[in-house]
Amino acid sequence: MKIAIVGLGTVGSGVAQILTTHKARTAARTGTNIDIVHAVVRDLKKPRDCDLPSSIVTDDLAVLNDPAIDTVVELIGGTTIARDVVLTALKNGKNVVTANKALLCVHGDEVFRTARELGRTVCFEAAVAGGVPIIEAVGQSLASNQVTSLEGILNGTCNFILTEMFLKEKTYNDAVRLAQEKGYAEADPTMDVAGTDAAQKLTVLVRLAFGLRISTDDFLVKGIDSLTLTDLQQAAHLGYRVKLLCTAKLHGDKLELHCQPTFIRREQPLADVDDAYNMIELHGDAVGKTWFSGMGAGQMPTASAVVADIISLAVGRAQLTFPRLTLLEESTGITILPKEEIQRRFYLRFSALDKPGTLSRIANVLGEHKISISSLIQHDETLGPPTPSTDDESYVPMVIITHLATEGQMLAADKDLAKLKCLAPPHVRLPIRD
Ligand code: NAP
Ligand code: HSE
Repeated sequence: MKIAIVGLGTVGSGVAQILTTHKARTAARTGTNIDIVHAVVRDLKKPRDCDLPSSIVTDDLAVLNDPAIDTVVELIGGTTIARDVVLTALKNGKNVVTANKALLCVHGDEVFRTARELGRTVCFEAAVAGGVPIIEAVGQSLASNQVTSLEGILNGTCNFILTEMFLKEKTYNDAVRLAQEKGYAEADPTMDVAGTDAAQKLTVLVRLAFGLRISTDDFLVKGIDSLTLTDLQQAAHLGYRVKLLCTAKLHGDKLELHCQPTFIRREQPLADVDDAYNMIELHGDAVGKTWFSGMGAGQMPTASAVVADIISLAVGRAQLTFPRLTLLEESTGITILPKEEIQRRFYLRFSALDKPGTLSRIANVLGEHKISISSLIQHDETLGPPTPSTDDESYVPMVIITHLATEGQMLAADKDLAKLKCLAPPHVRLPIRD
């Protein structure tokens, strides 16, 4: 088997390391030698984290037309050049392995349709949850099930940042920098912290598990970029951890879908996932509840998944299963639950004017929107310094936990709460997964 790797960054150099260091192991498991015949990069002068002969490393994408290549491994990321690389490879008769969830989210239809029409195979295990074999699980190992619910921590960078902030009291900016140094973050880390990367992975899982072809504009997506240590500590005080949680849950023929920082009860497995680990809690109608966990980002865990795909192509397994995966369904009968109808309990945190009448004004607004208060905390010393106001009146932090309310009720209440003069920013609202 002759492959070309496009991109020798964090993941690409990990793939090259495995294939060169463990050549005999992969040959024994596939019955064939897997040779890297070309590796394409942008900057030939950059030092590489792998030991490939300089004769095969090039900055010329034209080598991908080499008829000797069976498989192109796309590891550059993004949705422009990567799209050209993948489509050209398929049209030139090659199979493709990619770790690129952005590409599959934005151009999945085009990529999968082109591959199917040309009788080619696209493998994408590393595109979701790094080293965790969730694509194989959903597409094959659990194929006897209808997935009814899928909840996951799908971004290693965000989980690492939240862990560093909460357990090590690192600042948000220091934690982001460390995630970049460790090779967890996307080339543009905004993709991670704004929730986009996790949401893109959710669209790939939803396509595979529910046959729905969706975009990240179709559901609620929020990132971790405005979370503070105060909220992480408040969550702990109340018996929760905050995680960037992706949810796809069937209610009859409606799919509840969102990706947002969420309070998760401390005793739940999802709450206990730290660092760059990912976890997916999946419920299938036959199997019941299952959990899949492992490193969701980083060089070798991701390379592990990419090489597994290469091995699957080498033995011919992927070519058998790819044509039957639910990737291009026309109609499933399932539609997305409007976001206003999603029902949760909520954590609210305000900076409230320390004067008579404040509490009743807040309670009135919530009451007008039929939102019931489950508990209320107001003791300033656990919540950091009070927010100073321009007219020197004192503000105190206040936390409210609501009973069940819909996103629509909360959105309407948010607007009215924003008009209250007795409240100053921040106004934090996070959903609770009970
Ligand atoms: P990276 O470290 O930024 O590496 C990207 C590589 O692509 C670099 O070697 C770069 O070349 C090369 N490249 C970029 N544009 C190119 C072009 N026009 N022509 C030729 N080569 C080009 O990225 P990464 O972290 O390895 O991620 C690669 C892919 O894997 C992305 O789709 C990412 O979302 C996905 N992924 C990453 C992880 C992770 O933990 N990092 C996990 C799962 C999935 P130079 O080195 O010369 O600049
Ligand atoms: N930036 C991604 C993450 C890489 O942190 O999860 C893995 O897809």
